[in-house]
Amino acid sequence: MQKKPIIAIDGPVASGKSTVGRMLARKLGFRFLDTGHLYRAVAYLALKLNIAPANARSLIALCHKLQRDKKLEDEGTELISLEREEVSPRLKSEEVSAAASEVAKIPEVRDALVDCQREWAETGGVVMVGRDIGTVIAPDAKWKFYLDASLEERARRRYWELVDRGETPMLETIVSEMKERDRRDEMREAAPLMVASDAMVIDTTEDTVDEVVKILEDIILHGKNSPS
Ligand code: DC
Repeated sequence: MQKKPIIAIDGPVASGKSTVGRMLARKLGFRFLDTGHLYRAVAYLALKLNIAPANARSLIALCHKLQRDKKLEDEGTELISLEREEVSPRLKSEEVSAAASEVAKIPEVRDALVDCQREWAETGGVVMVGRDIGTVIAPDAKWKFYLDASLEERARRRYWELVDRGETPMLETIVSEMKERDRRDEMREAAPLMVASDAMVIDTTEDTVDEVVKILEDIILHGKNSPS
C-alpha cells in the first residue's frame, strides 16, 4: 500500500511555518510535528539542569531521555508532560529560543534527535516543520516548501506575538536577536538552514496566514504552480 505523503515545511524563525503547517495539517487530516519543540525541550531542560551547551555528553543523555519518556502526540506538544511538568508555555520564552539555537548547532544533539523525527516521517500523512526537514529528515518528502519573509516583517510578527503574551518587547532588540539566530541557523555546519534544491520557496511577507495556507493547499490538492 502506498504510504501517505509527507509535507515538509522549512524556513527561518517567524516565517509562519508552524502556524501555516498546523492549519494545513488540520485541513488535510494529517498529523503535525513542530520539530523546533524537540530542540526547545532539550534547551529548556539543559537550562533547568544547568547543563552547558559545551557539555555534549549530558545533552545527548537528555535527548535520549526525552525520546524515551516522551509520547510525541500531535503537534509535538506531548513534550509538555516531561516529568509531569507543564513546560509547554515556557518553551517559547526568549531565553529558551536563544538556548535552542545553541543546542541545535551541536551535531551529536541533532543525531540524537533524528530517530524520533524519522519515525514520524516514515508513517507518512504528516506535516513536519523545522529547518532541515526537506534536506535531512525527509529528503523524499512529496512536497517541500520553504517559507520566507523579510526580516522586518518577521520581527514585527514576533513583536506582536510577545505583546499578545503580555510582554513589553523592543522591536530593535527583536530584529538584532533574530538576525543573530538566522546567522546561527544558516552558518552552522550540521544541517544548516537552507532551501532544499527541490523545495518551493514561498515569500509570506505580504500574505496573511490564511492566504499562505490556501497557496499550499492549491499546490498540493490542485497541482497549481507556486506563485513565485
Ligand atoms: O522553529 P523554532 O524557532 O521553534 O526552532 C527552535 C530552534 O531549533 C531554532 O534555533 C532552530 C532549531 N531547529 C533546528 O535546528 N532544526 C529543526 N528541524 C527545528 C528547529
